[in-house]
Amino acid sequence: MVSASRSPRPKRHYVCRSCGVSAATWIGRCTSCQEWGTVEEVQALPRVRAAPAAVLRPLGDFVAGGSVPLPTGVGEVDRVLGGGIVAGSVTLLSGEPGIGKSTLTLQIALAIAGTGASVVLVTGEEAPAQVAARAARLGSLPPTLTVLDCTSTEMIQDMMAADRPQLVVVDSVQTLRVEGIDSSAGSVTQVRESATALVAEAKRHDVSVMLVGHVTKDGSLAGPRLLEHLVDTVLTFTGDRSSDLRFLRSVKHRFGPTTETGIFEMGAGGLAPVLDPSRRFLRDRVKGAAGSTVVPILAGHRPVMVEIQALTAPRGEQAAQLAVQGVATSRVRLVLAVMQQRADVPVLSRDVFVSLVGGSSTDDPGLDLAMAFALRSSLSGTPVAVDLVACAELGLAGELRSPTQLDRRLQEAYRLGFRQAVVPASVERGPTGLRLLRCGSLSDALDILLPALARTA
Ligand code: TYD
Ligand code: MG
Repeated sequence: MVSASRSPRPKRHYVCRSCGVSAATWIGRCTSCQEWGTVEEVQALPRVRAAPAAVLRPLGDFVAGGSVPLPTGVGEVDRVLGGGIVAGSVTLLSGEPGIGKSTLTLQIALAIAGTGASVVLVTGEEAPAQVAARAARLGSLPPTLTVLDCTSTEMIQDMMAADRPQLVVVDSVQTLRVEGIDSSAGSVTQVRESATALVAEAKRHDVSVMLVGHVTKDGSLAGPRLLEHLVDTVLTFTGDRSSDLRFLRSVKHRFGPTTETGIFEMGAGGLAPVLDPSRRFLRDRVKGAAGSTVVPILAGHRPVMVEIQALTAPRGEQAAQLAVQGVATSRVRLVLAVMQQRADVPVLSRDVFVSLVGGSSTDDPGLDLAMAFALRSSLSGTPVAVDLVACAELGLAGELRSPTQLDRRLQEAYRLGFRQAVVPASVERGPTGLRLLRCGSLSDALDILLPALARTA
């Protein structure tokens, strides 16, 4: 008989450091995100804690104060955060290496410290001298901006408890180590335990924390996705390497909506806000090129003009290729299927490339029609009229539907010099001076486009 008194073997636990999904056994490829070699064993840590006495308080006690955001002083950041940083909140800023996370957090730190508030930069990644040199280039150095050159989570916790600064910036969370856990910095265990400890400390002392986290395309660093449920706010910082434009978005925000986009330009003086995004996006537009259409999309509350480009080519031996940048592939597939099935445009058997110019991205369905126009224009090799915008969502029956806030979109198109707009038939009026070309269906709209194509040819 087997003795029942043996203590059970500790259960092993595995987590994918790319997407955070748990697995019962070690596997070479994550079944969720399909990345190879990202699943690692997580140490089960003994949870020793004294049980504090429960204190019940009426919910009404918490109504006043609490989550009033404090402006960071960096306008585009405040736009995305709905006003600023809430005291005691933890924000994760994630992005690929080199995109500008350290620059952005340094600018926030300088702006907040510039108001006299105390800000601590935890510089695990770069030497303080390096950070100081960059900071000095970006602005004057306020005396309330201090540096803690360490990678010890406990040391940061002690500093937060003793000094209670207004903001602590940790650059980056992947450099942190909790003493007593013998896995290396950047591992799932270290990143998660460090973030958990700092979140608890932030709440305890009402100190705001900003954690910088790297993500790489191949998911090779333990990252932000593991931490999304722990923190209050998750910001992503993205941009095309070949462009100076950078986009700040929130994918989670406990204190407000997640719809706004902050738009910056990286230059010699750091990150500057892009005050007129429409003009900036259309700056490099080649007027009169086939396969391009301009469309007003909504970036949060702001209508912004963007150029969508498409290229179709006869496919080779293999199945038709589809390469997409800046819009969801599923949206492009829908537009292609509607063009083929409802308007007899032979696009499904061809290689298709679709790109939103400037490295921006959107899930706004209001650009469906512009995408169809760009594809149609590419197919015939004739450009869309230079002063024409298209703004409608496509339904599966091939009908045109009004996107939200069409009025404001059309105002923006007029402001930027556009004089014709293809819109759904239900639209009653637009800005004076903008000629509305109303269409019920994609095939009607393409009929309008064809003479326009011919006119410009
Ligand atoms: P950085 O903030 O170090 O990126 P991250 O922390 O995300 O890795 O910024 C990286 C790039 O930004 C680097 O290539 C240099 C450039 N940069 C400028 O162009 N202008 C500037 O004023 C600063 C500070 C950086
Ligand atoms: Mg950095």
